[in-house]
Amino acid sequence: MKFFVDTADIAAIRDLAATGMVDGVTTNPSLILKSGRDIIEVTREICELIPGPVSAEVAATDFEGMVAEGRALAAIAPNIAIKVPLTWAGLKACKVFSDEGRMVNVTLCFSETQALLAAKAGAAFISPFVGRLDDIGLDGMDLIAGIRQIYDNYDFQTEILVASVRSVNHVRDAAKIGADVATVPPEVLRKLADHPLTDKGLAQFVADWEKTGQSIPKAKA
Ligand code: E4P
Repeated sequence: MKFFVDTADIAAIRDLAATGMVDGVTTNPSLILKSGRDIIEVTREICELIPGPVSAEVAATDFEGMVAEGRALAAIAPNIAIKVPLTWAGLKACKVFSDEGRMVNVTLCFSETQALLAAKAGAAFISPFVGRLDDIGLDGMDLIAGIRQIYDNYDFQTEILVASVRSVNHVRDAAKIGADVATVPPEVLRKLADHPLTDKGLAQFVADWEKTGQSIPKAKA
Protein backbone atom coordinates (compact mmCIF):
# COMPACT_ATOMS: atom_id res chain seq x y z
CA MET A 1 0.00 0.00 0.00
CA LYS A 2 1.25 3.46 -0.88
CA PHE A 3 1.03 6.31 1.63
CA PHE A 4 0.35 9.83 0.49
CA VAL A 5 0.42 12.63 3.04
CA ASP A 6 -2.70 14.77 3.09
CA THR A 7 -1.34 18.26 3.74
CA ALA A 8 0.19 21.37 2.19
CA ASP A 9 2.42 21.91 5.25
CA ILE A 10 5.98 21.86 3.88
CA ALA A 11 7.62 21.25 7.27
CA ALA A 12 5.40 18.22 7.94
CA ILE A 13 6.01 16.82 4.45
CA ARG A 14 9.80 17.25 4.81
CA ASP A 15 9.75 15.60 8.25
CA LEU A 16 7.72 12.59 7.07
CA ALA A 17 9.61 12.24 3.78
CA ALA A 18 12.71 11.51 5.85
CA THR A 19 11.04 8.30 7.08
CA GLY A 20 10.93 6.96 3.51
CA MET A 21 7.19 6.28 3.88
CA VAL A 22 5.80 9.09 1.74
CA ASP A 23 4.92 8.04 -1.80
CA GLY A 24 2.98 11.16 -2.72
CA VAL A 25 1.02 14.15 -1.44
CA THR A 26 -2.59 15.32 -1.72
CA THR A 27 -3.79 18.87 -1.26
CA ASN A 28 -7.18 20.53 -1.59
CA PRO A 29 -8.46 24.12 -1.30
CA SER A 30 -9.02 23.75 2.45
CA LEU A 31 -5.44 22.52 2.98
CA ILE A 32 -4.07 25.39 0.84
CA LEU A 33 -6.09 27.82 3.00
CA LYS A 34 -4.67 26.21 6.16
CA SER A 35 -1.10 26.53 4.81
CA GLY A 36 -1.52 30.27 4.22
CA ARG A 37 0.61 29.86 1.08
CA ASP A 38 0.16 30.66 -2.60
CA ILE A 39 -1.07 27.49 -4.36
CA ILE A 40 1.47 27.62 -7.19
CA GLU A 41 4.44 28.32 -4.92
CA VAL A 42 3.62 25.74 -2.26
CA THR A 43 2.73 23.08 -4.84
CA ARG A 44 6.04 23.65 -6.63
CA GLU A 45 7.92 23.24 -3.33
CA ILE A 46 6.04 20.02 -2.57
CA CYS A 47 6.85 18.64 -6.03
CA GLU A 48 10.54 19.38 -5.44
CA LEU A 49 10.46 17.46 -2.13
CA ILE A 50 8.39 14.45 -3.24
CA PRO A 51 9.01 12.71 -6.58
CA GLY A 52 5.69 10.79 -6.44
CA PRO A 53 2.27 12.09 -7.43
CA VAL A 54 1.27 15.45 -5.93
CA SER A 55 -2.43 16.22 -6.24
CA ALA A 56 -3.36 19.84 -6.88
CA GLU A 57 -7.06 20.67 -7.07
CA VAL A 58 -8.79 22.95 -9.55
CA ALA A 59 -10.98 25.68 -8.07
CA ALA A 60 -13.29 26.12 -11.09
CA THR A 61 -16.51 24.14 -11.17
CA ASP A 62 -17.24 24.52 -14.91
CA PHE A 63 -15.63 22.31 -17.57
CA GLU A 64 -13.72 25.04 -19.44
CA GLY A 65 -12.45 26.56 -16.19
CA MET A 66 -11.29 23.16 -14.92
CA VAL A 67 -9.43 22.41 -18.14
CA ALA A 68 -7.68 25.80 -18.11
CA GLU A 69 -6.76 25.61 -14.43
CA GLY A 70 -5.77 21.95 -14.64
CA ARG A 71 -3.32 22.65 -17.45
CA ALA A 72 -1.80 25.51 -15.44
CA LEU A 73 -1.42 23.25 -12.39
CA ALA A 74 0.08 20.46 -14.52
CA ALA A 75 2.69 22.92 -15.80
CA ILE A 76 4.11 23.24 -12.26
CA ALA A 77 5.89 19.87 -12.41
CA PRO A 78 5.65 16.51 -14.21
CA ASN A 79 4.49 14.73 -11.03
CA ILE A 80 1.29 16.77 -10.66
CA ALA A 81 -1.98 14.83 -10.50
CA ILE A 82 -4.77 17.23 -11.45
CA LYS A 83 -7.55 16.92 -8.92
CA VAL A 84 -11.10 17.45 -10.15
CA PRO A 85 -14.42 16.99 -8.34
CA LEU A 86 -16.74 14.11 -9.13
CA THR A 87 -19.26 16.07 -11.19
CA TRP A 88 -20.12 15.68 -14.87
CA ALA A 89 -17.90 18.69 -15.61
CA GLY A 90 -15.12 17.09 -13.58
CA LEU A 91 -15.51 13.77 -15.37
CA LYS A 92 -15.39 15.50 -18.77
CA ALA A 93 -12.24 17.34 -17.73
CA CYS A 94 -10.79 14.06 -16.43
CA LYS A 95 -11.34 12.44 -19.85
CA VAL A 96 -9.62 15.36 -21.61
CA PHE A 97 -6.64 15.25 -19.24
CA SER A 98 -6.29 11.47 -19.27
CA ASP A 99 -6.44 11.44 -23.10
CA GLU A 100 -3.51 13.90 -22.97
CA GLY A 101 -1.60 11.45 -20.79
CA ARG A 102 -1.95 13.49 -17.60
CA MET A 103 -2.57 11.99 -14.14
CA VAL A 104 -5.99 12.84 -12.72
CA ASN A 105 -7.29 12.37 -9.19
CA VAL A 106 -11.11 12.46 -9.08
CA THR A 107 -12.10 13.65 -5.64
CA LEU A 108 -15.23 13.90 -3.47
CA CYS A 109 -16.32 10.33 -4.29
CA PHE A 110 -19.09 8.98 -2.07
CA SER A 111 -20.57 6.13 -4.11
CA GLU A 112 -19.57 3.07 -6.09
CA THR A 113 -21.24 4.30 -9.27
CA GLN A 114 -19.32 7.58 -9.02
CA ALA A 115 -16.11 5.54 -8.79
CA LEU A 116 -17.14 3.52 -11.84
CA LEU A 117 -17.58 6.72 -13.86
CA ALA A 118 -14.17 8.05 -12.78
CA ALA A 119 -12.48 4.83 -13.91
CA LYS A 120 -14.27 5.00 -17.28
CA ALA A 121 -13.06 8.63 -17.61
CA GLY A 122 -9.48 7.39 -17.25
CA ALA A 123 -8.70 8.65 -13.74
CA ALA A 124 -5.34 7.61 -12.35
CA PHE A 125 -6.84 7.88 -8.84
CA ILE A 126 -10.30 7.84 -7.30
CA SER A 127 -10.61 9.49 -3.89
CA PRO A 128 -13.44 8.04 -1.77
CA PHE A 129 -13.87 10.04 1.46
CA VAL A 130 -14.26 7.48 4.24
CA GLY A 131 -14.24 9.82 7.25
CA ARG A 132 -17.01 12.01 5.91
CA LEU A 133 -19.19 8.91 5.31
CA ASP A 134 -18.53 7.72 8.88
CA ASP A 135 -19.51 11.22 10.05
CA ILE A 136 -23.05 10.74 8.70
CA GLY A 137 -23.46 7.28 10.24
CA LEU A 138 -22.41 5.21 7.21
CA ASP A 139 -19.37 2.95 6.96
CA GLY A 140 -16.71 4.40 4.68
CA MET A 141 -15.00 1.02 4.40
CA ASP A 142 -18.10 -0.49 2.74
CA LEU A 143 -17.49 1.95 -0.09
CA ILE A 144 -13.81 0.98 -0.37
CA ALA A 145 -14.74 -2.72 -0.53
CA GLY A 146 -17.39 -2.06 -3.17
CA ILE A 147 -15.06 -0.04 -5.38
CA ARG A 148 -12.34 -2.70 -5.03
CA GLN A 149 -14.81 -5.35 -6.21
CA ILE A 150 -16.01 -3.30 -9.19
CA TYR A 151 -12.52 -2.29 -10.31
CA ASP A 152 -11.31 -5.89 -10.04
CA ASN A 153 -14.38 -7.18 -11.95
CA TYR A 154 -13.43 -5.07 -14.96
CA ASP A 155 -9.68 -4.83 -14.45
CA PHE A 156 -9.78 -1.02 -14.16
CA GLN A 157 -6.31 0.35 -13.46
CA THR A 158 -7.58 3.41 -11.55
CA GLU A 159 -5.99 3.35 -8.10
CA ILE A 160 -8.23 3.54 -5.04
CA LEU A 161 -6.86 6.44 -2.99
CA VAL A 162 -8.59 6.32 0.38
CA ALA A 163 -9.19 9.91 1.54
CA SER A 164 -10.68 11.68 4.55
CA VAL A 165 -8.66 9.31 6.72
CA ARG A 166 -9.12 10.07 10.41
CA SER A 167 -7.54 7.13 12.24
CA VAL A 168 -4.99 4.33 12.25
CA ASN A 169 -7.91 1.89 11.93
CA HIS A 170 -8.96 3.52 8.66
CA VAL A 171 -5.48 2.78 7.27
CA ARG A 172 -5.54 -0.79 8.59
CA ASP A 173 -9.00 -1.56 7.24
CA ALA A 174 -8.26 0.00 3.83
CA ALA A 175 -5.07 -2.08 3.57
CA LYS A 176 -6.98 -5.27 4.44
CA ILE A 177 -9.50 -4.54 1.68
CA GLY A 178 -6.68 -3.94 -0.79
CA ALA A 179 -6.94 -0.21 -1.45
CA ASP A 180 -3.95 0.99 -3.47
CA VAL A 181 -3.21 4.19 -1.55
CA ALA A 182 -4.21 5.92 1.67
CA THR A 183 -3.76 9.66 1.91
CA VAL A 184 -3.13 10.27 5.57
CA PRO A 185 -2.92 13.45 7.67
CA PRO A 186 0.57 13.85 9.19
CA GLU A 187 -0.64 13.24 12.76
CA VAL A 188 -2.29 9.94 11.79
CA LEU A 189 0.72 8.83 9.74
CA ARG A 190 2.97 9.35 12.78
CA LYS A 191 0.58 7.27 14.94
CA LEU A 192 0.92 4.25 12.63
CA ALA A 193 4.15 3.27 14.39
CA ASP A 194 2.76 3.66 17.91
CA HIS A 195 1.90 0.82 20.29
CA PRO A 196 1.97 1.01 24.09
CA LEU A 197 3.56 -2.45 24.31
CA THR A 198 6.37 -1.27 22.03
CA ASP A 199 7.03 1.66 24.39
CA LYS A 200 6.83 -0.58 27.46
CA GLY A 201 9.07 -3.26 25.94
CA LEU A 202 11.65 -0.71 24.82
CA ALA A 203 11.79 0.89 28.27
CA GLN A 204 12.46 -2.55 29.76
CA PHE A 205 15.23 -3.30 27.23
CA VAL A 206 16.87 0.08 27.84
CA ALA A 207 16.77 -0.47 31.62
CA ASP A 208 18.18 -4.00 31.37
CA TRP A 209 20.85 -2.93 28.90
CA GLU A 210 22.08 -0.24 31.29
CA LYS A 211 22.41 -2.93 33.97
CA THR A 212 24.74 -4.99 31.73
CA GLY A 213 27.28 -2.14 31.79
CA GLN A 214 28.07 -2.94 28.16
CA SER A 215 28.18 -0.75 25.05
CA ILE A 216 27.99 -1.76 21.39
CA PRO A 217 30.78 -0.19 19.31
CA LYS A 218 29.46 2.24 16.71
CA ALA A 219 30.56 1.66 13.11
CA LYS A 220 31.72 4.76 11.22
CA ALA A 221 29.08 6.12 8.85
C1 E4P B 1 -7.81 14.25 0.12
O1 E4P B 1 -7.57 14.19 -1.07
C2 E4P B 1 -9.01 14.90 0.66
O2 E4P B 1 -9.14 16.16 0.16
C3 E4P B 1 -8.97 14.85 2.16
O3 E4P B 1 -8.54 13.57 2.58
C4 E4P B 1 -10.26 15.28 2.80
O4 E4P B 1 -10.22 14.98 4.17
P1 E4P B 1 -11.25 15.62 5.24
O5 E4P B 1 -12.56 14.97 5.08
O6 E4P B 1 -10.63 15.32 6.57
O7 E4P B 1 -11.29 17.09 4.94
